[in-house]
Amino acid sequence: MHYKDWINHLPAYKPARLLTGKATEMVKLSSNENALGPSLRAIEALQNAAETIYRYPDAQAGALRRALAERAGLPPEAVLCGNGSDELVFLICVGFLREGDEVVMAQGTFISYLLRSQAMGAHPVPVPLREYTHDLPAMAEAVTPATRLLFVCNPNNPTGTTNGASEMHDLLAHVSDEVLVVVDEAYIEFATRPDYPDLLSEVRRGRPNLVLLRTFAKIYGLAGLRLGYAYGHPDVIDYLNRVRPVFNVNALAQVAGLAALDDVDHVARSRAHADASRAFFERALTTLGLPYVPGEANFIAVEVGDDAAVTEGLYQRGVMVTPLSGWGVPGAIRISFGLPDQNERCIAALTEVLASLEGNARQP
Ligand SMILES: Cc1ncc(COP(=O)(O)O)c(C=O)c1O
Repeated sequence: MHYKDWINHLPAYKPARLLTGKATEMVKLSSNENALGPSLRAIEALQNAAETIYRYPDAQAGALRRALAERAGLPPEAVLCGNGSDELVFLICVGFLREGDEVVMAQGTFISYLLRSQAMGAHPVPVPLREYTHDLPAMAEAVTPATRLLFVCNPNNPTGTTNGASEMHDLLAHVSDEVLVVVDEAYIEFATRPDYPDLLSEVRRGRPNLVLLRTFAKIYGLAGLRLGYAYGHPDVIDYLNRVRPVFNVNALAQVAGLAALDDVDHVARSRAHADASRAFFERALTTLGLPYVPGEANFIAVEVGDDAAVTEGLYQRGVMVTPLSGWGVPGAIRISFGLPDQNERCIAALTEVLASLEGNARQP
């Protein structure tokens, strides 16, 4: 058989630790899920649709796409739905990358951009973060004639940092139409800065080389259903539609997504919960003397020193977080916001872990 070298060289998928034992005993703060759970309206829609699942889904996800388009002031032809926004990253890479192409991305961002680019035999060009934030001028400089894609994650996972409108527009002005700019806005609903870029208006104006990625996995609390969507120029969306598996979005995801979109109270509660949790962690981490990255998402990145040891110590105490060395942010962990008692448990466990690591370090 003829294996592709660049796929053989990809790291094998290492599944995240699953919740073991009684779910109540472990606090899972490692996947940026919505601690409040899904919208009750989405659950009701799922229950009502359960008896119809012997039928194939609408291959166009028509109702959902129309609803998403209407909200964005775009035609449905400018919307593409995916089996999670992760699938959309994959489809973009399949659609636009050839062996040897370059893909500009941050070093210290969502890992899919790197892995899916490598799967196509393309070369990732990682640009270091500046103060934990995408360095957009440096990313613009990193573009060469071989660049086909440029990924920006805003707010950035795993640091939670954002880029404002002015530098984002400078980037778009600098990059030629030959390069597709993909702005992953998975956490946009949590962003707080007043000058957060309004890139939908760029798409409405017909910019040919911009795709925005969004998801139902974060604020909408539907991570397990797998549902994401993209806004882009109808020509780009049409092109990507040709690569996608016909029934990529299942029937239950389509009805639940529609219902979740309408539940504005659930979205507002989820955002308020993230704001309150962020304030809690910022206070508690300041008390603990741990530097954190000021972010605008539903998680916080914290400088702990030995991220692997701290993650393991927390796990032993029933709290799951994500170590960030493997993400290009060495020495930090990412804590997703949980319910108030879970957040308190996390801080209590972190206090114990730091004391025990300090104690070990002092041993002769
Ligand atoms: C920045 C970013 N983009 C995309 C995704 C993938 O989301 P989905 O569950 O919609 O595939 C994630 C998930 O953690 C993410 O953090």
